[in-house]
Amino acid sequence: MSLWVDTDYGFDDLWALLLLRRYGATVEGISLVAGNSPLPQVIANALGAAQAYGFDAPLHAGADRPLKREPETAQAILGDRGMDSRGCFLPDVDGPQPPADAIEALAGWLMQGGSREVLALGPLTNIALLVQAHPEAAARITRLVWMGGSNGPGNHSPLAEFNALCDPEAADVVARAGLPLDVIDLMICRQARFGPADMPQTDPLTADLLGGYLDIGLSRGRDGMAIYDPVAALALVRPEAFDFARQTLQVSVAADDTYGATTFTADAAGLTRLPTAPREDIAHLCLDALRQEDGQ
Ligand code: RIB
Ligand code: CA
Repeated sequence: MSLWVDTDYGFDDLWALLLLRRYGATVEGISLVAGNSPLPQVIANALGAAQAYGFDAPLHAGADRPLKREPETAQAILGDRGMDSRGCFLPDVDGPQPPADAIEALAGWLMQGGSREVLALGPLTNIALLVQAHPEAAARITRLVWMGGSNGPGNHSPLAEFNALCDPEAADVVARAGLPLDVIDLMICRQARFGPADMPQTDPLTADLLGGYLDIGLSRGRDGMAIYDPVAALALVRPEAFDFARQTLQVSVAADDTYGATTFTADAAGLTRLPTAPREDIAHLCLDALRQEDGQ
């Protein structure tokens, strides 16, 4: 399976990329978007992860701000790097910056035709810009899987999930674009939780970064942490692990407390699918993707 990934490069985004590799999926391009942290930090995380983990997918810099609203990051929760740690961090790489051509690069990849699956792990700014500037390319997307939104309470405001709230206007453009969209929302991700006893045997850097991610929950008095982006990656490579229901998606762009909230309405003819239940132990499948393989 070959695909494209659009990401704001927090740890769970990195975890999703490691899961894709473990399942043998080939990432043919990575577009970067401001979200968890400002775009320069997202780029630094992408370069550091490529060096530390040997990722070789071409990197392309995309939007450094939302379509309309003021930028908002998750650095107050995740730290300045948009990725916390119990010790080691990704290396700082003095290398060439990725070209600032994400929208054109994604459009070019889509126009090659064939199966064109896109995994979006951050705000939908880049995808919305693609829809607006290259609708003929966007129409070539055979499946768009997005970690975002919530068919229930939010996580960054009471009503809105972070990726949706980061750029509600972009999410609204994508929701209206008539794309085959799978929304891996907070409610299914909240069914994929892990705690200290679930930590996999893995390399020291991954263990420190995974610990930093787990500490987001533990430091707030919870017994563990939900798994976000890796669940979306799992839904892309292993859709049989989920039950899906067809919906119509609406995104609020109202200037009130519903801003960024996502509403799902059951619709048998809807182009949006929502995973309604896991058919397998999705937390275990995500954690197992980090387990160090023999000889690693
Ligand atoms: O709400 C979770 C999402 O916000 C994840 O994609 C995480 O990486 C952050 O971007
Ligand atoms: Ca993300």
